[in-house]
Amino acid sequence: MKEELLKKFEEIYGSSEGAKVYFAPGRVNLIGEHTDYNGGHVLPCALTIGTYVVVKKRTDKKLRFYSMNYPECGMTEGALGDLKYRRSNGWTNYPIGILWTYQKKGYRIPNGFDLLIYGDIPSGAGLGTSASIGVALGLMIREMFGFEDITNVDIALFGQYAENEFHGINCGIMDQFASAMGKKDHAIFLDTSDLRYEYAPIDISEYALVIINSHKARGAFDAKYNERRYECERALAQLQSIAAIQSLGELTPECYEQIKEVIAEPVLVRRAAHAVYENQRTMDAIEALKRADAVRFGKLMTESHNSLRDNYEVSGKELDVLVEEALKVPGVLGSRMTGGGFGGCTVSLMRREALEMFTIEVGKNYTERTGYYADFYNVEVGDGARAL
Ligand code: GLA
Repeated sequence: MKEELLKKFEEIYGSSEGAKVYFAPGRVNLIGEHTDYNGGHVLPCALTIGTYVVVKKRTDKKLRFYSMNYPECGMTEGALGDLKYRRSNGWTNYPIGILWTYQKKGYRIPNGFDLLIYGDIPSGAGLGTSASIGVALGLMIREMFGFEDITNVDIALFGQYAENEFHGINCGIMDQFASAMGKKDHAIFLDTSDLRYEYAPIDISEYALVIINSHKARGAFDAKYNERRYECERALAQLQSIAAIQSLGELTPECYEQIKEVIAEPVLVRRAAHAVYENQRTMDAIEALKRADAVRFGKLMTESHNSLRDNYEVSGKELDVLVEEALKVPGVLGSRMTGGGFGGCTVSLMRREALEMFTIEVGKNYTERTGYYADFYNVEVGDGARAL
């Protein structure tokens, strides 16, 4: 891959001498959905697919961009002195947003660069594409300009800052954290209230974890995502009138049941219930993982899906059909939508021998019931962002 990328870089910019290559992965979240902006826990893993960047420092302040995913855009130019969000910038808002973030955080970027980018995450699948772009660029800038005080956790935080403040998407830290801090064959159990984390080995010799791409586009995702976040904030504000809490993640389910009647709107009661119970499920899931209790883990995954469908209302017909059909296959232990929702992917846990029937049956029945075609990917858990 590296050779191919360098060759392309040379074709676009004339020479690849001195160019460097970096990679940051996408992610799949096993459980703990819509908890990361509520001070709860998440359990994602980094994938082996992601975003590659090739870069070469320039002596002037010019920026040049080329994406192998959007060859029709050709090579475009920008300038270090003009780091503004513009619709017309298209994908180059990502590198511009990360440069802008570095400047906001007090780092001086002395030179421009020539950049080539390539991503192999299926587009629109909700597997952390934009986070992987942000993290790859954050790593690239740290390395290129020798900002040694910046840790990989900072790179994740910079990526989130750019999404929140530059792109206007109020995402949590999960995707960027998984991309920057991932570890091969491990899931990351992360407490988003203080960013403490631990790695948990995933031994899937007897089991398989399979992602299914529903190919259902995540229409108006950003607006709906921001709306859910706002609903949680409103629920929290009402709970704070009687409880001394900073986030929904601080509440146990028992505690929540005792105080929930203070929330006036029924829809907010359901949103907050999801955040609280999902956080508990994630803490239960890491315990199940440590005990190698795949059956319990699978049950928690399915309960998570049910809550995302009924309480949080971020699933949809296609994702629900994929989960329903998955659970009909003997040997499947659990299944759920993964990521922000409203389309995108599901993830399912099964005994290895179920794999063949799973692919055939779920694929066939999904198309019959929805008219969409499903793609199946065996989860391969890879390392976090790195130089290649
Ligand atoms: C998106 C966001 C994450 C997280 C998930 C839902 O992927 O980027 O921060 O909130 O949705 O769990």
